[in-house]
Amino acid sequence: MRKHWAVLAFILAPLFLFSCNSSEKEIEESPFNVEQESEAALRVGFSQVENENPWRIAQTISITEEAAKRGIELIYADAGGSTEKQIDDVRYLIEQNIDYLIFDPREYEESAPALDIAREAGVPVIVIDRSVKGEPGVDYLVEIVADFHREGERAGLWLKDALDGTGNVVELLGTPGSSAAIGRHEGFRDAISDAPGIRVIDAKSADFLRAEAQRVMESIIQSKGNRITAVFAHNDEMAIGAIQALKNAGLAPGEDAVVVGIDGAKDAVKAIIAGEMGATVVNNPFYGPTTFDVIERIERGEDVSERIVRKETVIQQSNAAEEIDNAF
Ligand code: AHR
Repeated sequence: MRKHWAVLAFILAPLFLFSCNSSEKEIEESPFNVEQESEAALRVGFSQVENENPWRIAQTISITEEAAKRGIELIYADAGGSTEKQIDDVRYLIEQNIDYLIFDPREYEESAPALDIAREAGVPVIVIDRSVKGEPGVDYLVEIVADFHREGERAGLWLKDALDGTGNVVELLGTPGSSAAIGRHEGFRDAISDAPGIRVIDAKSADFLRAEAQRVMESIIQSKGNRITAVFAHNDEMAIGAIQALKNAGLAPGEDAVVVGIDGAKDAVKAIIAGEMGATVVNNPFYGPTTFDVIERIERGEDVSERIVRKETVIQQSNAAEEIDNAF
């Protein structure tokens, strides 16, 4: 294994490097006189959750293209939506003698053993997008994540306004155990907690998948029918699946039921323009530039924040046309 200072820094981090206590700690300069290698290209592993929906595809392309642009060798593994496989993938990537692991953890708790595997092998981990149980600077090096609670809250505030304080909502949840589903659920419930007229009449997981959301929504429509006046989906894929289910049942999305999603996907922005969807909270999937900036700064021995939190925005009728070209 190559002896980049960052690798040693990661192994020794709890003891020597990360001495500050704030959540936005900076990586201090290595106290060790370890020679840096500059001649060989970096070799980085990327453990992806799955690669089916537009958000995931955009994220994979962003990481892949950015690595290629910088002459970094990328080894990619797609867990296909299985936490167990993702842990095996991490083992496999580490066997490929990587200098860093970029890890997008499928679940918050169940994915944490992957960190132990990386730590034992002395491979520094950059956690991206979803969070995993552990602490930056101790259990992994840096996290570049979304504020899922805030995303759910923005969706809830938007819906509360759109419903004028009264409505029956169906919540379609993402992958159980994922920080994305946990945060979005809690943020949404917090946002509507002061609106007693808004009731969540059903909440079921559709695993962030469009076809599954359509199936789940069709069965909810059978029992709740036209009592449903709103749908909050934890991502746009599920929002589009719900819209299809509403249409199949003879209900008009946007009129009979207002639909709000998260991601900022092109299909969602088109649905907003068509009046079938109310809003989407943008969760930017383009992680490549920031992730490799962080890795290269560490390689140069520069300071980086241990926690980088990305900002969300909202697309709705008023700005959908101007945002369509940024959507994926
Ligand atoms: O973790 C981010 C979520 O994962 C995205 O919202 C979703 O589309 C993806 O599967």
